[in-house]
Amino acid sequence: MTKQEVVNAIIRKLQRQPATRGVAFAPANIALCKYWGKRNESLNLPVTSSLSISLAQLGTQTEIVLADREDTVVLNDNIVKKDTSFYQQIVAFLDLFRADNDSYFTVVTTNNIPTAAGLASSASGFAALVLALNELYGWQLQGRELSILARLGSGSACRSIYHGFVEWHRGTADDGMDCYAAPVPDTWPELRIGVITLETGAKPVSSRQGMQRTVATCRLYKCWPDKVAEDLENVKSAITHKNFDQLGQTAESNALAMHATMISTWPPIVYWLPESLAVMHKIWQLRQDGLQIYFTMDAGPNVKLLLLEHDQALVKNFFPGVAIIAPFAT
Ligand code: PMV
Repeated sequence: MTKQEVVNAIIRKLQRQPATRGVAFAPANIALCKYWGKRNESLNLPVTSSLSISLAQLGTQTEIVLADREDTVVLNDNIVKKDTSFYQQIVAFLDLFRADNDSYFTVVTTNNIPTAAGLASSASGFAALVLALNELYGWQLQGRELSILARLGSGSACRSIYHGFVEWHRGTADDGMDCYAAPVPDTWPELRIGVITLETGAKPVSSRQGMQRTVATCRLYKCWPDKVAEDLENVKSAITHKNFDQLGQTAESNALAMHATMISTWPPIVYWLPESLAVMHKIWQLRQDGLQIYFTMDAGPNVKLLLLEHDQALVKNFFPGVAIIAPFAT
């Protein structure tokens, strides 16, 4: 099945004549149990399920309007050049949703997180675009369908359709219709995510390339699905029982296992900078000293901290540059 066939199956009965404009916001998300590796490259179907936390007000705001002659993409107040992969990815995605060959769009998108720095801006970007398209066309789709459409842009985008904890079910169907994200109902008001941004430039190896190379060449990768199955259960039970140490330990171990597969891929992929490793050592030391603090990392050098509200001031002292997010703040 192609992406276009999936889109047609979802919006077939729905309106394709757009209104004047659609506007939407989607949060970035950080996986506590990661997605790494695809079972279908073109539909972004994952080898495993995964579970994330959305970053509340940190994410992407997108407006989409109809245009006369060509597609224009504006990112953070700058017109994006047509020869960039960013522009081409958005246009290829928009191709799936045009009413006819002469319909064009202007997409104005603003990230309040660094683009392509391992902070999942492509996730919030594609989720916001799908939510904005849903507004533009008046489809009134539900979360499940919206998450499937967002997944066609970037896998982890399916989780950014929702706030709070989100589980992405891997599914087993070839067409991916059972591969969608759904909210986990529990909240955890005391939970905080710290973001330590060490690098804001684009990463040298995209997550798409990184996953491909890992699945193709890493001998350790065959252990990954079992590791995820175990970690997913532990993360879910930690959330249910508000067991912070279990949550932190599982998320940290899961991230390190994912990086172990990347590192043992050939040619090796090491997203860490010396500064990333220095932050990890500092966290391990602080934990030995009794602080409840854990970390997770994605396909980039930045480090995300897991902590509780009552340690916020202490953590800010130890990491002066940290941005602390309250995912469940009202
Ligand atoms: O959805 P992508 O292609 O940006 O891949 C995301 C991969 C990780 O961020 C490393 C893990 C995850 O589950 O978000």
